[in-house]
Amino acid sequence: MKIALLGKGKTGRLLIELAESRPGHTVSVFDRARRPSASLLEHHDCIVSFLPGDAFMAYIPDLIASGVPVVTGSTGFTWPGGRTAFSRELAGKGLTWISGSNFSLGMNLVYTMIHALRDAEALLQGARYELHEVHHTSKKDSPSGTALSWKEWLGREVHITSERTGDVTGLHTLTLTTSHEKISLTHEALDRKLFAEGALWAAEQLCTGKPDLAPGLHEFRETVQRYLITSPLNEERP
Ligand SMILES: NC(=O)c1ccc[n+]([C@@H]2O[C@H](COP(=O)([O-])OP(=O)(O)OC[C@H]3O[C@@H](n4cnc5c(N)ncnc54)[C@H](OP(=O)(O)O)[C@@H]3O)[C@@H](O)[C@H]2O)c1
Repeated sequence: MKIALLGKGKTGRLLIELAESRPGHTVSVFDRARRPSASLLEHHDCIVSFLPGDAFMAYIPDLIASGVPVVTGSTGFTWPGGRTAFSRELAGKGLTWISGSNFSLGMNLVYTMIHALRDAEALLQGARYELHEVHHTSKKDSPSGTALSWKEWLGREVHITSERTGDVTGLHTLTLTTSHEKISLTHEALDRKLFAEGALWAAEQLCTGKPDLAPGLHEFRETVQRYLITSPLNEERP
């Protein structure tokens, strides 16, 4: 697979290492020194972005014009016209993109756990939810894209606090408190390779056409869920 990588920073450089350690992948890098344009991008099988959100947004017209499938992990921006309208625009052009605020495959388990916690109010009187996230000091967006996804998964207002310290890769804790008990759910990213691994997995899904993704903008988590449902492992289960 010929990958055009946008951003060779803390995360992008790990994607290069990972892709080049596997047979059949080549990576061309685009950054401030070599800016992406439709004509430079169009000869690739897939574009992967680990640019900061504002930079990614500025290149969206070029990415669309290239006609190449996109996997983006960029955070801290909003889709032009809103996510639904943008997905429709991509679908109208026959383009398939995957986006995710957190490419951890384990985050799918967290999604299921958060869904269990959101029903707590039916059982527990006066449940309060709080979300705390910690990241490295050079992270630009706050709260993190992952914290905003957790809030969306929870489906209710939750107070989010953010901390920026050292070189923390990503720590998220959701706490549910009542006057008699406390439940905490923590996800800690131990190594940024985790995100490169998820992004490469998504790129491979786009290029191999499995699972069958219709044109439009797909959420990484939903793509993983669809894969799990259709995977041979699942078919073998009783
Ligand atoms: N979805 C996920 O799982 C996940 C995981 C980790 C990070 N992220 C997100 O990915 C993004 C990048 O994170 P990071 O920590 O890897 O960033 P980083 O270390 O700051 O690297 C950013 C890269 O983008 C390039 N860049 C910045 N502005 C540019 C522009 N206008 N034109 C071209 N290139 C530009 C930089 O190039 P120069 O060196 O030339 O400036 C650098 O190579 C952030 O939004 C972060 O939140 C997502």
